[in-house]
Amino acid sequence: MNKKIAVIGAGNVGATTAQRLFEKNYSEIALIDIAEGLAEGKALDILQSGPILGLDNNIIGSTNYNITKDSDIVVITSGVARKPGMSRDDLLKINMNIVSEVTEKSLNQSPDALIIVVTNPLDAMAMKAYQVSGKKPNEVFGMAGVLDSARFTTFISKSENISVNSISANVLGGHGDTMVPLLNNSSIGGKSLNNSIEPNKLKSLVQRTKDGGAEIVNLLKTGSAFYAPSASIVKMVDAICSDSKTILPTTAYLSGEYGINDLYFGVSAKLGKSGIEEIIEYDLSEREKNDLIQSAEAVKETVDAMKKLS
Ligand code: APR
Repeated sequence: MNKKIAVIGAGNVGATTAQRLFEKNYSEIALIDIAEGLAEGKALDILQSGPILGLDNNIIGSTNYNITKDSDIVVITSGVARKPGMSRDDLLKINMNIVSEVTEKSLNQSPDALIIVVTNPLDAMAMKAYQVSGKKPNEVFGMAGVLDSARFTTFISKSENISVNSISANVLGGHGDTMVPLLNNSSIGGKSLNNSIEPNKLKSLVQRTKDGGAEIVNLLKTGSAFYAPSASIVKMVDAICSDSKTILPTTAYLSGEYGINDLYFGVSAKLGKSGIEEIIEYDLSEREKNDLIQSAEAVKETVDAMKKLS
């Protein structure tokens, strides 16, 4: 694909994202990290896989943002990863400063780029990038829901022995313990989850989805998930670069949707070349509405905490 993607942060998520983009034939990838040599080394390593894969794509790494000039999309993964026992909110102070810095530096090189934020705590970091960027809300958004929905789909698929391709699982809300997996608007072969899976079993699948990030953090001991997160990022990048108008769970700026205002929050959104082109609102059950409001309150608390730290 003849697009330039800048990936900021060459840690697990950033480097794996760069590798996936390279292997999906994105012709120009720029990888940035603050750690001297890290982005250069990983980019060079990925580049040298080109002859083996038969790919002439270009990938370059640096600490210098010059290499990101005129990117179509900037993916922000730089930050500190969550460690066992550390809540997402513990990361707030360190990561808000990192996100502010890298947003400014990236936009200096690529003022027209769309921004996909991945750094946690995600909803608050998306808000920070939006505030720093001065861009339109549809041009700055976050990756969380594609991942959370993929986790929900995985657990349903394994539990019910049904292909992931026959499951449509939606997760809304904040990226964290308060996320809201939808039961009426998610389905197996078109039949709602509520009508497909026994309630107690469904409850445990929902809980495992909510704990999905922590489950992996606890297993890895150091660092957090990156294979499914990087695949989720690339799915969003693909939708934008191919202008496919795919509806994906996206952390978007809300202005009244679900009664929520001035907050980045997980909703379903149509993605195309101008970023978020439409936000889709579902008819929710009373319980889901209440859960969503609670989730929004949790996100608001983090955003308020961020304001105090600024
Ligand atoms: N500028 C550029 N890069 C930075 C900066 C900065 N100011 N600060 C930190 N980094 C880099 C680090 O040097 C590191 O290489 O960000 C990278 C983060 O990589 P990892 O620690 O491996 O974290 P990762 O697993 O990739 O997760 C990144 O994504 O899913 C979220 O919660 C996760 O917020 C975390 C982010």
